[in-house]
Amino acid sequence: MTIARLRKAVFPVGGLGTRFLPATKALPKEMLPVVDRPLIQYAVDEAREAGIEQMIFVTGRGKSAIEDHFDFAYELETTLKAKGKSLDLLHQTRLAPGAVAYVRQQEPMGLGHAVWCARDIVGDEPFAVLLADDFMVGKPGCLKQMVDAYNRVGGNVICAQEVAEDQTDKYGVITPGNRDGALTEVRGLVEKPPQGTAPSNLAVIGRYILQPEVMRVLEAHETGAGGEVQLTDAMARMIGDQPFHGLTFAGTRYDCGDKAGYIQANIATALAREDIGPAVRHFVEGMPLD
Ligand code: G1P
Repeated sequence: MTIARLRKAVFPVGGLGTRFLPATKALPKEMLPVVDRPLIQYAVDEAREAGIEQMIFVTGRGKSAIEDHFDFAYELETTLKAKGKSLDLLHQTRLAPGAVAYVRQQEPMGLGHAVWCARDIVGDEPFAVLLADDFMVGKPGCLKQMVDAYNRVGGNVICAQEVAEDQTDKYGVITPGNRDGALTEVRGLVEKPPQGTAPSNLAVIGRYILQPEVMRVLEAHETGAGGEVQLTDAMARMIGDQPFHGLTFAGTRYDCGDKAGYIQANIATALAREDIGPAVRHFVEGMPLD
C-alpha cells in the first residue's frame, strides 16, 4: 500500500454560529478568541505543525474577517514599523498566497456539503478536515498525532474520543472494531444517533484525514440527520473499501461550540500562559464557588 503524503487541509468556516449570538452577529464564530488568538488561528497552527502546506477555507457570507486575519495587513504593519514595534505576532498569522485558498459555500447544506465545496482545490489526494470549534490541546498537536498514525496505516483516520452516554446524540458515533493502542478500527459510523441507540460512546471529534474518494460519495448530496449532507454518512460508505481508523488523541479537547466549553478553554489556556497565568490563577483560586 502506498501512503500519499498529506499536504492539504479543509477548514469549514461557513457556519452561522447561532449558539454564540449576539457575539457572532457580525463576527465569525471562528474569530472568537481563546485569550488572544482566534479559534481558527489555533486550528491553522495545528495544521502547520502537522506538515500541511495548503489551507483551504470553505467560507460563506459575513466571513471576510477570516480572510483579513490571514492576509497582509498593510496599515498595521506600517504603523507598528514606524513605532519600532515587533511585527512577530502579525507575521505568525500571515499565510503566503500559495498556502491558502478560499471557496464559498453558498447554502448551509451541512458539513458534508461544505467539504465537497473544496473538491476542485483538494483534487485527487488525501486531505485533512479541521473543525475550529473543537479546540485541541496536546503535544504534539492532535492532527500531528493523527498524521503519525496515518503514515503507518494509511486510508482514513478520524479523531475519536469517549463521551458520556447521554451525549452521544450530539456526535458522529463509531462502531468500534479491534483496538491497537490508541488506534481503533472503525466498523461503522452513525451521525447523531437518537438517545439509547448509539453503537458505542466513542465519538468522532472534528479532525479527519480522508481519502479523496469521499468527494465522489458526497457528490450525490444525500441528506441525513437534520436534513443535512453529513460527512459522517459519506465516510460510513467508505468503510470496507479502505482502511478506516479512529485515533484516541492524547490531550484535552474543549468544545468551543458550547459556551461552557469555550470559557473552560479560555481559563485553561490562560492558566498555562507564563504572562497572565499567575494573575488568573490568583483570581480563580480566590473565587467563592457558590
Ligand atoms: C460535527 C459532525 C459530528 C462530529 C462533531 C464533532 O457535528 O457532524 O459527526 O461528532 O462535529 O465536533 P456538529 O458539532 O457540527 O453538530
